[in-house]
Amino acid sequence: MNYGYFAQDKREYVITRLDTPAPWVNYLGSPKYGAIISQNAGGYSFLKSGARGRILRYRFNYDDMPGRYVYLRDDDTSDYWSASWQPVGKQEGYRGQCRHGLGYTVIESQYSEIASHTTYYVPLGQRYEIWRQRLKNESDRQRHLSLFGYAEFSNHGDYEQDLVNLQYSLFISKTHFDENKIIQAISENSDEAVFRFFALTGSPINSYCGDREAFIGAYRSYRNPQAVVEGHCANALNYNLNSCGALHTAISLQPGEEKELIFILGQHAQDEAADIVRRYEPDGLSQSQCELDLQALERYWQHNLANLQVETPDENFNQMVNNWNAYQCFTTFIWSRAASLIYCGQRDGYGYRDTVQDIQGIMHLRPDLAREKLIFMLTAQLDHGAGLPLVSFDHYPGRDYTVDAFAHISENGEPAYRADDALWLFPTVKKYIAETGEIDFLNLQVPYANTGTGTVYEHLKQAIAFSYAHPGRNGLPAGLIADWNDTLRLGEKGESTFVAMQLYLALTTMQRFAALLNDKTYLKDLETKQAELAEKIDALCFEGDRYIRGITDTGLRIGSQDSTAAKLWLNPQSWAVLSGLADQERAQTILDNVYENVRSDYGAHLMDSSLHDLEFDGALARIYNDSCKENAGIFLQPQGWLILAEAWLGRGERAYDYFTASSPAHQNERAEIRVMEPYVYGQFTEGCGSPHAGRSHVPWLTGTASTIMVACVEGILGLRPDATGILVQPAIPRIWDRVRIEKVFRGKRLNIVVENKDGNETGYQEIYLNGQKMDSNYFTFKQLDADNEIVYIM
Ligand code: GLC
Repeated sequence: MNYGYFAQDKREYVITRLDTPAPWVNYLGSPKYGAIISQNAGGYSFLKSGARGRILRYRFNYDDMPGRYVYLRDDDTSDYWSASWQPVGKQEGYRGQCRHGLGYTVIESQYSEIASHTTYYVPLGQRYEIWRQRLKNESDRQRHLSLFGYAEFSNHGDYEQDLVNLQYSLFISKTHFDENKIIQAISENSDEAVFRFFALTGSPINSYCGDREAFIGAYRSYRNPQAVVEGHCANALNYNLNSCGALHTAISLQPGEEKELIFILGQHAQDEAADIVRRYEPDGLSQSQCELDLQALERYWQHNLANLQVETPDENFNQMVNNWNAYQCFTTFIWSRAASLIYCGQRDGYGYRDTVQDIQGIMHLRPDLAREKLIFMLTAQLDHGAGLPLVSFDHYPGRDYTVDAFAHISENGEPAYRADDALWLFPTVKKYIAETGEIDFLNLQVPYANTGTGTVYEHLKQAIAFSYAHPGRNGLPAGLIADWNDTLRLGEKGESTFVAMQLYLALTTMQRFAALLNDKTYLKDLETKQAELAEKIDALCFEGDRYIRGITDTGLRIGSQDSTAAKLWLNPQSWAVLSGLADQERAQTILDNVYENVRSDYGAHLMDSSLHDLEFDGALARIYNDSCKENAGIFLQPQGWLILAEAWLGRGERAYDYFTASSPAHQNERAEIRVMEPYVYGQFTEGCGSPHAGRSHVPWLTGTASTIMVACVEGILGLRPDATGILVQPAIPRIWDRVRIEKVFRGKRLNIVVENKDGNETGYQEIYLNGQKMDSNYFTFKQLDADNEIVYIM
């Protein structure tokens, strides 16, 4: 069953049934000002973080309320409704749909012969948002309408203070009315005063309200606010308790007549607010200001996505790679894990491993932005090589301390290092250099988080040194507080196969860098180290048909044939391939094992059974129900590694099978099972041990987005740049007879046509570059012209 569809021409997802099984949302805005909005206008706004920079209230986990509401009332009949289906929720006679687009959301409705059209967006780079409201009288009589805009301010930017510490936060907020806007002032007389505004242009204000209780009325709700029922606000302002912005205007419309009004909401003091509002006055530049804003947004998103566009026979694949997965990658890139409609986002700041991986998701689209953030993350690496587990948004080097310092613990609640954090730098730096050819990036001086500075190359050296400075009992890198899996504690001296494989890959990458920089002694050292590491991993972790997951402090082998439960874990199998450790034959054996034992119709489980039957101290995932999250759920980020591993082996069918099992667009027709937005990846899907197998959770801000993007681009499409050129090696399903790829590679255009008449999964028979037959599928940058036609015959 579906609730909507992808509008191909516009890059929109159109929700046609508004009673979706969960709020289906969009993210608007930029790092400065973010806004989350559902198909029913639920959601909230925030500066940088949903937990610390909160502007609008939202009640999590219940009813998707409040939101950015526009109420409409027929003043001749007293009937009222909302422009969005909720909160009033008219059943009879209401028709509506929601279109989520890139950087904007449109909610359209028709009720009582009044058509309403609301466009929500945040103008590029601004700290305010626009609700552009149009109304049309579709009846043949004159209509007298009242229209109310409603925004519920938080009393404090900090979510907890606002909702929990009420003995304090209920006594700091008040509102003023100023001409065409409500101004909210928080702690007005202190140095930390904060001001928000909610304004209306396009129609005079008839009444206003700055006090939530006065607007809603006692024992009422957002569904039937007193002011709307009565047809006017009480002109009440707030002093203590709860502020809101509510503005009422009465309009009359002739048959067929249309009107446009604009609500503006933001965090600015009175004078700045007045300047902003003036821009949107109808007599001045108002209409065209919205047009200009929207055009700028469109150009911005076109620019972001232009570097890669594909056309395969699978429209859903195209939708994900060209638009929605890419869009989600920008979302995680910008906000990390800091604002959601599922959780309040108290893990504010950038998770080291999360963000370093998120950067990969936009590498092929905006390497310039990737560079900036990558340097930022390098400055959050300590001089002994570890990454700070959590990097504050306003981090600057020298101010952050080693994680054992008290200040860091109290700020971030994290007393120790993770074994994997800095190791994620290797694939990300490598991808950056590959995409741009900027080898000199390795020589860039970047400060460490605590003290001193080093080149990027030295930072990477330190990351390797950190792993070697923390050996486990058997000489593999120690598990420390955790590796990729936050709920798996192998112990200070325990050992993680996953980390060992990451280190193995880091050593390969570093050898390439050392060769590029002619660092011979170090190169030798790396070769020796890598050979030793490979031997150790083989001896300790390989069991013929699988790699184990790790060895605890006390010597328990996790993910072993001899385990009592959770005998087979997904990640060490895919990573054995991605790290380059497993040869083709071994790789096939272990991935076949995965296919037979952990695959499901919704993707592969994280391991073959839950941890409930496996007793050891570090099995933190036991707190979760079986088949959820890290406890044998179908964790979605690892699907990306699995797809990529299968593609590298040339098994296009398998890669595509895993892709479609977990791809949002492919679940559009079973949206009632998946529950989550069919255009967005989530953190995990409930596995086969759950009564709700297939139900998916924690949409939007997850590492799944970037990892699956990489799997599609480098794996299925097989676009693998390196410092000097690009390898083209698709691994596709047999039924794809033709694929077109347009990629901009360091300013040069590649038009690639893959012909697959024989129904192959991988490999090529002939390759042509600009009409010339080639003897390899690797193109050096020098071979390429400004425009290139590549024909790849499979
Ligand atoms: C969450 C975390 C991520 C971690 C994963 C597995 O997605 O954000 O950092 O790797 O869970 O535990």
